[in-house]
Amino acid sequence: MIKTEISNIWGAIDFSALMAAEERLGQAHAMLAEGKGPGNDFLGWYHLPSGTTEAELDAISAAARKIRMDSQALVVVGIGGSYLGARAAIEYMNGVLHNESDPVKIYFAGNHLSTRALHELLDRLEHVDFSINIVSKSGSTMETAVAARMLRQLLVRRYGMDKARERIYVTTDPENGKLRKQTKEEGYESFPIPSNVGGRYSVLTACGLLPMAVAGIDIRAVMAGARQAEADLDVRSMENPAWLYAAARNALYEHGKKIELFCSYEPCFEYVGRWWQQLFGESEGKDGKGIFPTCLQFTTDLHSMGQLIQQGERTMFETVVRFAPASRNLNIDMDWKDLDELNYLVNKPVTYVEENAIEGVIQAHVDGGVPVIVLECGEMNARTLGYLFYFFQLSCGISAYMLGVNPFNQPGVEAYKKNMMTNLGRG
Ligand code: PA5
Repeated sequence: MIKTEISNIWGAIDFSALMAAEERLGQAHAMLAEGKGPGNDFLGWYHLPSGTTEAELDAISAAARKIRMDSQALVVVGIGGSYLGARAAIEYMNGVLHNESDPVKIYFAGNHLSTRALHELLDRLEHVDFSINIVSKSGSTMETAVAARMLRQLLVRRYGMDKARERIYVTTDPENGKLRKQTKEEGYESFPIPSNVGGRYSVLTACGLLPMAVAGIDIRAVMAGARQAEADLDVRSMENPAWLYAAARNALYEHGKKIELFCSYEPCFEYVGRWWQQLFGESEGKDGKGIFPTCLQFTTDLHSMGQLIQQGERTMFETVVRFAPASRNLNIDMDWKDLDELNYLVNKPVTYVEENAIEGVIQAHVDGGVPVIVLECGEMNARTLGYLFYFFQLSCGISAYMLGVNPFNQPGVEAYKKNMMTNLGRG
């Protein structure tokens, strides 16, 4: 379903550099498959698509149906891996304007500590029947806990203790953490993030699936795509597009390309980019190593970052995610006055302009010394989304092991939390 196209990287590396990685790719993949690498107690995501049961999907769908029946809004309270995947999926499937068309609005909270943003949300919820989904693997993340407490108390004030309880859904570790304890004590409906699945690898658990289902996304189609990826991408050779992607980015990194620009031409793909950024950034950026992952929206960002990409320091490469043209066509109309001088495009679809832009950008960047990897992804639908989530998780695990780091920990994130807790007097 995904094709990794690397014909535009040869100016920066040669074929032998790529093929030299074959053995390391095999070893890295085996470390994941056999659970023999560092962080191997966090490999639950590896067989998650095939291991998720119909009963689990039924329970998520039932909760989503109830929320859609009794709520005009769902607030998803979480941060990092407990938020980005859900938002990515909802925007990818329903568009960036999804809240303007869907009768059930999906808001996100707990992903910052901004009083202004919290006020804005609380004001928005004033006359709205809503439910909340608190998502936290550890159950102790400050941003999430603060927002969850405020929203819980708002629910209690509005509906009373018992009715409020029916509007609180928790997604957390099945056994451990404060949130699990609170869930048991208060009797909230809850869903597990399996103990062996880390935050940024959890999008295909209830963490991502419950908000998706509330947004009306066919979660079975998402999981079917992920299952197909799990089967397809088990291939242990350079024919595996995940191998090729991991090999190309590692070879480019070894040849001085330290920054990866993850680009798409679909505005609704922006949050998949942010999810990808966390996945690769937190998995690889440690021990003084790691490609700096950043996501860009083209052609929008060509008008802000295009200059830097074309002529700035030559330390970057680009990964472009391409989809099949939209099924609904949109042609450029005739205008008899032609004051904007666009009549040479009359009856041409906007896609025609876009495709020419994409080709033009790739050529310009390659000519300017920015190697380009293209991921051809086919139709933009729920199956492809599930496939993509798994594809990137696998590529990331392989890539990080090739780099010699543990893909599943994030010791550096603790530094700011420790300072914050000390400042807050918690110790
Ligand atoms: O990948 C990770 O583990 C992190 O990004 C977490 O998802 C993020 O810090 C949120 O943590 P939690 O789900 O424990 O609240």
